[in-house]
Amino acid sequence: MEHVPVLLHEAVAALAVRADGTYVDGTFGRGGHARAILAALGPRGRLVAIDRDPAAADAAARIDDPRFLFRRAWFSALDDVLDELDVPTVDGVLLDLGVSSPQLDDASRGFSYRFDGPLDMRMDTTRGESAAAFLSRADVRELTEVIRDYGEERFAPSIARAIAAARAIEPIATTRQLAGIVAKVVGGRTRGDWKQDPAARTFQALRIAVNRELDEVSAALPIITGRLVPGGRLAVISFHSLEDRRVKRFIAAASTPFGGDPRLARLPLRGRDLPAPPLVAIDGAIKAGADELAHNPRARSAVMRVAARTDAPLPADWPRGLPA
Ligand SMILES: C[S@@+](CC[C@H](N)C(=O)[O-])C[C@H]1O[C@@H](n2cnc3c(N)ncnc32)[C@H](O)[C@@H]1O
Repeated sequence: MEHVPVLLHEAVAALAVRADGTYVDGTFGRGGHARAILAALGPRGRLVAIDRDPAAADAAARIDDPRFLFRRAWFSALDDVLDELDVPTVDGVLLDLGVSSPQLDDASRGFSYRFDGPLDMRMDTTRGESAAAFLSRADVRELTEVIRDYGEERFAPSIARAIAAARAIEPIATTRQLAGIVAKVVGGRTRGDWKQDPAARTFQALRIAVNRELDEVSAALPIITGRLVPGGRLAVISFHSLEDRRVKRFIAAASTPFGGDPRLARLPLRGRDLPAPPLVAIDGAIKAGADELAHNPRARSAVMRVAARTDAPLPADWPRGLPA
């Protein structure tokens, strides 16, 4: 299936694209947002796009535009990418987190319980541990933690034990095997979640773990902030509460003097003596409107948060003390 970009107009508006500005799309995917940013740029604007998926790199190679550059990288390596390109600062960065529709729909990538395929789930297929390798190595405690914390799955301990029992008989190598194991445990017990496949939460948990998705977001946000010009924009679209919570907390802390550190907040300082924070939050949670929801079911869980860089220097110990 084609990837239909979520919150497309809202994201370009959030970046407040200046015709001659330099922007970063940290999650190129199939380039829906990237093309819209290019359309808003003038002839002297630039867009640096990043994605860790080799298939996204192939799609990016088809964009023939002198204002566009692609680097295959993890977005937490933004400093390396920009240093290599000799780009010291940028006017805005967009992250549209999670997986793309082509990733989900390609059975050979192993992201989906809907198709049978090898249990891989890596966005960057050139490095790291596949979901199958993780399932064969992790002990029951680690499996439980991952499935509970990243899948918000209340049956995590039983699923972890079922995985351990199944792999003692044969390796869990395919999506169908895993979906079957989870379905046996969760089965008809998905009260209230009648629309969700019993394996959905476990698959989400493994995907987040294998791709270190939350660590990537936590690592990238302070790096992005450090690269923005005063007035430059950060816009992040999340698809589940675990990600959104991190983005929300980061923006809240980086928009508060001393990162909101409660000990420092008690210092007897007057308002004008407080250090100005590096970010200012813009609007609250931005969600898809009725029109978009009617056409794109993926938009249902999307939340965008936006912030602008102030002209205050970054604290010397940045980002120490900010929430992970
Ligand atoms: C939801 S899709 C983005 C879709 C894109 N905005 C579009 O309109 O086509 C997310 C993309 O980000 C990539 N991605 C996710 N986490 C990443 C990370 N930490 N570093 C680099 N790319 C990442 C995925 O490989 C995927 O292609």
